Parts: sequence; C-alpha cells; structure tokens
Amino acid sequence: MASTPNRRNPPPIDPNVPGLAARRVAANAVATLLGPSRGLALDDALAQAGRGESLEPGDAALARAIATASFRRLGFLRAALAERLRDGLPEDRPHLLALLVTGAAQILDLAVADHAAVDLAVRLTKADPQLQHLAPLVNAILRRIGRERDAIRAAETDPLAVNTPEWLARRWAAAYGEETARGIAAAHLEGAALDVTLRDAPEAWAERLGGRLLDLGSLRLSGREAVADLSGYADGAWWVQDAAAALPVRLMAPRPDERVADLCAAPGGKTAQIAAAGARVTAVDRSAARLERLQRNLARLNLTADVVTADALNLSEETPFDAVLLDAPCSATGTIRRHPDVAWTKSEADIGRLVGLQRRLLDKAARLTAPGGRLVYCTCSLEVEEGRDQVAAFLARHTTFERVPITADQVGGHAELIDGNGDLRTLPCHLDGGSGRGGGLDGFFASVLRRSGG
Ligand SMILES: C[S@@+](CC[C@H](N)C(=O)[O-])C[C@H]1O[C@@H](n2cnc3c(N)ncnc32)[C@H](O)[C@@H]1O
Repeated sequence: MASTPNRRNPPPIDPNVPGLAARRVAANAVATLLGPSRGLALDDALAQAGRGESLEPGDAALARAIATASFRRLGFLRAALAERLRDGLPEDRPHLLALLVTGAAQILDLAVADHAAVDLAVRLTKADPQLQHLAPLVNAILRRIGRERDAIRAAETDPLAVNTPEWLARRWAAAYGEETARGIAAAHLEGAALDVTLRDAPEAWAERLGGRLLDLGSLRLSGREAVADLSGYADGAWWVQDAAAALPVRLMAPRPDERVADLCAAPGGKTAQIAAAGARVTAVDRSAARLERLQRNLARLNLTADVVTADALNLSEETPFDAVLLDAPCSATGTIRRHPDVAWTKSEADIGRLVGLQRRLLDKAARLTAPGGRLVYCTCSLEVEEGRDQVAAFLARHTTFERVPITADQVGGHAELIDGNGDLRTLPCHLDGGSGRGGGLDGFFASVLRRSGG
C-alpha cells in the first residue's frame, strides 16, 4: 500500500521544474536547524534532507548555497520578514519560517531572479499538506521583499546587534570590546577566502595558482574554481587549510624524527603539517568516519602517520611524546565565516559541556608529554573559556608546565594576533576581515606549553 506523503516521505515534485528539489532540500535543512534539532551541523542536515531526492551535483551545490546564505544573514533576514508579517515570525512553524527565510535569502543575497525564488517557494508551500493554505502569504511577503530590496539593504547597518545572536554578541563585546566585536560580526558577513598550505616552493605555487602569499605562510587563492581541479591538488602539493588553522603546528615547529601525538586529528590538516615536517606522528581520533577522510588526505599527499581510532582519554601513557598537539573539540565559533549555522545552533550550555571535556583532554595531553617536551593546545573558538581561561586553569593545575610566549616574528610580524599572555588569538576581523577586500582569518586560540625536565 502506498504511504501517505509527509515531510519524511515527500510527495514527488515536478521534475520538469528546474531547481525545485534544490529549494526543498535547502528549506528542509534550514527548518531542521530552526526547529527542535538545533544541535545538528548544517552539512548533516543537508545530507539528511537530500536523502531520497537524488540531486545532481549542481543542485546539491545550489541547496548548500541557499542554506548557507540563509544562516549567514539570518538576523537580517528575520528582521526584514518580521517587519512585514502582521503576526510576527512563525517561530512555532519551522518549515514555514524556513520557506520564508530561504526565499528571502535568494532574493536579497543570491543571484536568483525574484520571480524564480518566489514561484519555487510558493510551489513548495502548496506541496506541503500542512502549509498549503499559506501559499498566498508566502507569495505576498516574498514579492514584497523583492520590491523593497533597497530599503531592506539600507536598514542593515549593525551586524552585531541584528545579525548576531544576543548571547554571542554580549560575550564577544565583553572579551574583545564593542568595536572589535562589531568587526567580527562584519567579517562573518563576508565568508572566508580559500587558503592552502604548501609543502614547498611557495613562490612558484603562488604564481602557478594565481594566489597571494600571506606573511603567515599560507597561500590565499582568489579564484572560485573547484579545489580538486586546481593544479597540484591531485599530486598532493598542497592542502586546504585556513591560514590561522595552520599556525598551531607552525608554532609547535616539529622536527624530523621527533615523536609527535596529534590527539584530535581528523580530518587531518594539522597531521599533514606535522608529517610533512618529517616528524613521526601518531594521529588519534575517536571518529572512525572522520579518520577515513584523514587517511584519504594523507594518501593524496603521500604522507604517512600512525593512525589510531580511539578516545584520546584512554591512550596508554607508557611512552610519552616529544610533542603533543591537542586541537580540542570546541564550540567552533571561530569558524562562523565558513559555517554560519554555528552561530544559530550552538548555545551557552554547549560551551560549558565542551570546557569540561577540553580540561580532561588537556590533563591527558600533559601526561602524554615527555619531560622537556612541548604541548600545543588550540581551539577554533572565540570564547575565552575555551582558550585563555582554559590555559590559565591548566597552568594552575600543572606546575611542571610553563607557557612559551609567542613572538610576533613567529606569526609574520602580526603582533595583533598575540594576546597579553603571549598566546595566539586570531579573530575573523584580523588581516582586513570585514573590509570587503577578501581578508580575514578563522578565530583560533593556541598556547605553547613546555614541560620542565628532560
Ligand atoms: C577540531 S576537530 C580536529 C581538527 C583536526 N585537528 C584538523 O586539523 O584537521 C576535533 C576532533 O576531535 C575529535 N574528538 C573529540 N573528542 C575526542 C576524544 N575524546 N578523543 C579523540 N578524539 C576526539 C573529533 O572527532 C574531531 O575530529
């Protein structure tokens, strides 16, 4: 017996309407994250929504672009819609809200013709048994968004107040000051450049790929070509890694034949750096699926590592390492330029939970560091509890460790990337992020700690 169409078992949509399935996947993924499954990452929500739709690669990319644009400017989009909805935003109907948000994102931020965005949103509303009576409302609001585009854009003046969840805006203003917090929020609107880490011959690769060599050591590419089609990718001459993400291993400075543990290694950007330096790296991660990606990456780069699927907390402490990297699981608020959903799906409670795990991993990392060895702790978070405060508490617990202050010449002369304690503190607004000139960095914290003795 045929089952009744519902959202898990969507009715077939007209295959002759180009882009309709891509819109449905985008709207369903956004609805999932706006609804009760807030903790999910957008990538996972897209994969879930795409099951059963068999999207062509171009449509899958379009679905991702629409969903990403929706979260990048969710605060602005919500404000524009709320002003035009007599009864306010339909918070208790995530699917309706998602159809409005994804429709408005296409009209305001993507190169989609207004009539296509409106027509497809209306078709999807009509196809939803629970929403079909609201198709005229969706039609009217989205048309109005198109007509009032200029006024809407002119009103988008304060990304910190309007386009940042209140709890994050408050934290960043407290940690970095109001002006810097506003710069961070502005940088989030821009997205991120494509940075790559080169194995060697930086000038030659800069010329061949047409990129700009940053004084941090990475190559920043300006083109929008598919990564796998670029020269040198298949031969393993370089790998994709934000310029800030490459700094913790540069600061560790692994040496040939040293034994190095990378405790939270997948998908392996930092493992690759350590292996490329000639060190003998043990790459540990508890996620077998993510380690498969690490293995594929290392194979392409022709690099080797001893790969261990395990909870780092359970590792044997018998033979400590010359150097240990702990790139700890964190709230990832430093990566909002790439993953704008993070701002809207994480909560303050997540931070408290992660801080506890980071502390236990740090204590383990300390026991895995040989006397005289170094421990580099890093997170891609903007939150002080996951960086500055975590290290202060660690140093108070472990008197055999001391901080090795980072100097400006270790980070291309950029003294602004070092905090008052001598730790690395990069922000999305650094390197001209938010200025419209293709700058910016992921928000990374890193501290280099040395164990006494040896
Ligand atoms: C920030 S990501 C690591 C990124 C990686 N270092 C890189 O540069 O590509 C954090 C990783 O920690 C892993 N992880 C979380 N808790 C862990 C644990 N207790 N033991 C080992 N790995 C863990 C996650 O599976 C995730 O892959």
